[in-house]
Amino acid sequence: MIAACRDGVVVLGIGSHVPDRVLTNDEIATMVETSDEWIAQRTGIHERRIAAPGDSSASLGAEAARLALASAGVGADELDLIVAATASPDYYFPATASLIGNTIGAVDVAGYDLSAACTGFIYALAQGYAQIASGLADTVLVVGTEVFSRLLDWRDRSTCILFGDGAGAVVLGRSEGPGGLRGFEMGSDGSGGPLLSVAAAGNAAFGDEGPYVKMNGPEVYKFATRVVVESAERCLHAAGMTIAEVDLFIPHQANRRIIDHAARRLGIDEGKVFSNVDRYGNTSAGSIPIGLDEAWRQGRIDRGDIVLMVGFGGGLAWGSALLEWTKERA
Ligand code: ACO
Repeated sequence: MIAACRDGVVVLGIGSHVPDRVLTNDEIATMVETSDEWIAQRTGIHERRIAAPGDSSASLGAEAARLALASAGVGADELDLIVAATASPDYYFPATASLIGNTIGAVDVAGYDLSAACTGFIYALAQGYAQIASGLADTVLVVGTEVFSRLLDWRDRSTCILFGDGAGAVVLGRSEGPGGLRGFEMGSDGSGGPLLSVAAAGNAAFGDEGPYVKMNGPEVYKFATRVVVESAERCLHAAGMTIAEVDLFIPHQANRRIIDHAARRLGIDEGKVFSNVDRYGNTSAGSIPIGLDEAWRQGRIDRGDIVLMVGFGGGLAWGSALLEWTKERA
């Protein structure tokens, strides 16, 4: 899927929330045979956040949603729709989106979950855009939220070092002025599904041990380095823009080496590349909205700036979005 966007669907507000508990590389090195040096060198990750026992994708997502609504100056009762991108939902059903809606006091709101792993937020953003552009909704809350710590085999050093928990959210709405979402490019290739998966209960692949992340790291790495560049370039082309016009590049935060490789290949200055993978690891569908929120709060995004976001991961799936920022400086 690829298209330029109509004017007028904008980010009204943004928020994010990560758990307090910090898990360092050194702590993981007491659990499996690894080291801070290996993890930092191969991935750029130094620490990640881990959800408290009472927390979940719904509770982290609700906190991010509250902050996004406050930043938008929009009441929960004004929402028409909540789309929650998550691969680690509280339940198969009810939807995480409905649980979030209930927690924030959104009554009579449509809500559903969207499962596209680390690309989930880009897909959900496209959903929010399309619902508003088509006239079906006026105001949409888009949440990316994950507790991957619950899906990890903490004895498997090739996966447990990579992921963390966290959530980010945006409120999308209409604006008469210019700017807002400018273009999307999205795709998936199910033949690569087995390279990165978590089996559902009842699936023979579930095995005896539990619903764990299984990943062929080197193959996913090759896919990621290729697809980030291709997707970003296709999205820019669709929107009639060039990389020189991009003010901030926020790729999915999976691995610092993937981010640096993509930035070099795209020819974008290091100073325009956002990364917080060192502090949070890979928060899957949470990573792009957490990055967008931090970048804005750090003053790295200003009104009129063009932000390029690219997600990739399980599916195998990928997606890019171009956003012209319309909010005043944080
Ligand atoms: N500590 C020490 N050694 C390790 C560790 C570890 N934590 N993990 C693996 N190793 C070892 C391996 O056993 C292997 O040893 P061997 O050569 O004796 O067999 C060696 O290190 C090299 O292993 P590789 O897997 O080839 O290491 P690589 O350099 O590829 O790095 C990594 C692994 C970091 C996982 C990398 O492949 C990667 O980042 N892949 C992409 C992951 C990703 O981007 N996922 C995104 C999507 S996630 C989603 O959608 C849910």
